[in-house]
Amino acid sequence: MGNHILLIITGGIAAYKTPELARRLMDAGHTVTPVLSESATQFVTPLALASVSGSKVYGDLFSLTDEHEMGHIRLARDADLVLVAPATANVLAKMAHGEANDLGTTILLATEAPVLVAPAMNWAMWDHAATRDNMHTLESRGVTTIGPVAGDLACGEEGMGRMADIPDIVNAVASTLKATGPLSGTRAIVTSGPTHEPIDPVRYIANRSSGKQGHAIAAALAKLGCDVTLVSGPTVEPTPKAVKLIAVETAVEMMAAVEQSLPADIFVGAAAVADWRASENAPQKIKKDTLGQSQGASEHCEISLTQNPDILKTVATIGATVGGRRPTLVIGFAAETQNVIENARTKLASKGCDWILANDVSSEQDTFGGLDNEIHLVTRASVEDWPRQSKLDVGRKLAGRIADTLANNAKTRAGGGAS
Ligand code: C5P
Repeated sequence: MGNHILLIITGGIAAYKTPELARRLMDAGHTVTPVLSESATQFVTPLALASVSGSKVYGDLFSLTDEHEMGHIRLARDADLVLVAPATANVLAKMAHGEANDLGTTILLATEAPVLVAPAMNWAMWDHAATRDNMHTLESRGVTTIGPVAGDLACGEEGMGRMADIPDIVNAVASTLKATGPLSGTRAIVTSGPTHEPIDPVRYIANRSSGKQGHAIAAALAKLGCDVTLVSGPTVEPTPKAVKLIAVETAVEMMAAVEQSLPADIFVGAAAVADWRASENAPQKIKKDTLGQSQGASEHCEISLTQNPDILKTVATIGATVGGRRPTLVIGFAAETQNVIENARTKLASKGCDWILANDVSSEQDTFGGLDNEIHLVTRASVEDWPRQSKLDVGRKLAGRIADTLANNAKTRAGGGAS
């Protein structure tokens, strides 16, 4: 799950590289809406950009159709990041002075999203005191910069002025998003998927969890700038972008990976951890006849089970039990087939966590492995019923809720300190 990048292309020769830049941004999971300045159209065609990005390409501030379909303010608001590449000396000067006389500069003045510029120009223009001052002004306002780099310039000279290489711009987009999101500077551990508890080399105990919900939560937290470690049992779900994956098989391995990843500010236990494991993991495949014989019956066999560690409870009670820092928010799931809210309330108390996301996993709900989820957010103070929605939307909603809660906590602390 990527971000929405508004790519403003201004009129430098490096503009010819922007279809490739758009493609690489899309490879990184982002969606791209190109906005071309008038002079940029001399170097790259709107058609090339539209074909690559699959998006409408915007250019004329006063196009009535564009304004009708999507006003320039909405373009500015919908972006998660505005990238100006290449950024000419001219657009940098306009940005520094707040000019808004075409679509790109108007968006730059209206947007609240982080802005990243990839300057490209002749080395003397880059060195000029006016450009230096403009860059200083922009950086002091929080605009981030990638490049320029040294090399052959379009004018035939050599020096500092080439637009940064495309992979470096794509990386700068990722780090700018990370550094500016509402959860930047925070760490989260998310567990996801089922666990597989081996009985012998070929057999295991498992459950129907797909990992979709846990992975969606990890992706949504990362999108808000959180540094996310995803500890996942076996799943075919792709690893979300910008998330550190620790792949595990068993509950014991999951517990160890979580402990090794602590401390964190946020813990979300979305994994369907097996409550039990086979007391013995036979080194060789257990033969049908062997089992029958050893237990004195041929049609009946028993596997002895041992309880697995409760990861959620362990994390929620850190401090009380093993010392160390408990995450500020410890969030668990309650997959229930009946009395959903009541059982979730009991679980909240017994696990010692802050929130429980309760969901009905009875077979008619198709939640395990399905694409949608219907959540009841149970806290000590309240129960909130969320409408049935995609697991991706549940992830986004939860991540937003976590960001708001941490921000409110920080405000309260700041307020308390001042009084
Ligand atoms: O106890 P129960 O399995 O119903 O609780 C579900 C919640 O507890 C989920 O958030 C799950 O990830 C977590 N859990 C855990 N370790 C276990 C069992 C459940 O972290 N051994």
